[in-house]
Amino acid sequence: MGKDVIVACDFPSKEATLEFLDRFTGRKPFVKIGMELYYAEGPQIVREIKARGHKIFLDLKLHDIPNTVKSAMAVLSRLDVDICNVHAAGTTAMMKAALEGLTRPDGTRPLLIAVTQLTSTDQEAMEKDLLIQRPMKEVVMHYAKTSAAAGLDGVVCSPLEAAAVHEACGKNFLTVTPGIRFADSAAGDQKRVMTPAAAKEAGSDYIVVGRPVTRSDDPVAAYNRCVDEFID
Ligand code: C5P
Repeated sequence: MGKDVIVACDFPSKEATLEFLDRFTGRKPFVKIGMELYYAEGPQIVREIKARGHKIFLDLKLHDIPNTVKSAMAVLSRLDVDICNVHAAGTTAMMKAALEGLTRPDGTRPLLIAVTQLTSTDQEAMEKDLLIQRPMKEVVMHYAKTSAAAGLDGVVCSPLEAAAVHEACGKNFLTVTPGIRFADSAAGDQKRVMTPAAAKEAGSDYIVVGRPVTRSDDPVAAYNRCVDEFID
């Protein structure tokens, strides 16, 4: 898979999601299905969007004991998703178990990536709430290295960290980067943000864009702007 723009379809229902996706009559966006939509509609929404020809990143960020994550991944493997994920904070044992669970009868599997630190977490929150007294970059790099060592395909990280992750874990280790904002749009709850063009310069493999596209007055134009800045 090459560079792509993933649209975070953080909608509360199937109707809202399909109405949104119906607008895209040209290039079909790579779609991220997160907790809100998945918990509202269940696995059928994945099948339905896949059947419409979209690639899917199922962003459920699993984080539990290894055995539970392994079993859950075995179930998710039956959905034809392209990327799924876990929290690296779940430990190496959990990430290895997740990978073991990800098997399909034909021998293929979705890409498995790990969340390092959420892009809504800043240094202060990490220190005060998580009691991690290390620089953010060091923590992210540590999680990236443990993810790579566990055999995962990449990490979710801030585009600010993409170059360093590639340097430490190899250029084929994927960096999937949310926290994308146009130069002229509001950051909202995201603390560590970059424009699509800057994320391209930083070496991100995939950018994940939610509100700048979904809340835009013209989502297709906003998506095309991401594609123009990031890919073309
Ligand atoms: O609307 P916005 O562009 O902030 O959406 C970003 C998306 O990426 C959301 O669906 C959010 O859950 C997800 N995400 C994130 N930071 C991570 C992992 C996932 O923002 N570290």
